[in-house]
Amino acid sequence: MKAFCIGLIGVASLIGAGTAAAQAKGEDVYKKTCSVCHDQGIAGAPKLGDKAKWAPLIKKGIDSLYTVSIKGKPGTGMVAKGGNASLSDADVKAAVDFMVAKAK
Ligand code: HEC
Repeated sequence: MKAFCIGLIGVASLIGAGTAAAQAKGEDVYKKTCSVCHDQGIAGAPKLGDKAKWAPLIKKGIDSLYTVSIKGKPGTGMVAKGGNASLSDADVKAAVDFMVAKAK
């Protein structure tokens, strides 16, 4: 797991979208909340780094992804803020940015 984390940080630093601090935040939120479903594709969640799954989602626009992530997607396993109500909207957006960056 440690090597995997270091690898992720290395890749994130190469992407160059946003500030390093925002990236670290997004990765942190992802690992603590979103990875539970999005690492393995639980309940049909688009997996982290699965470009084929993410391409059509990214096409809908980042704002649409932010909204779904903050409010949840009714009728699916994607609950508001990934079920962690203590996250701020900015935290959730940072995690979405992290996931989108991984799918490019
Ligand atoms: C309990 C499991 C679970 C957790 C935790 C979870 N997700 Fe999801 N997520 C899903 C599922 C299932 C879908 C697919 C929904 C569908 O069928 O369209 C999804 C879809 C998405 C999508 C695509 C939305 C779209 O427009 O279709 C985004 C973006 C997303 N999740 C972001 C997040 C973020 C950010 C977090 C952490 C804050 C998170 N998810 C945590 C289960 C989860």
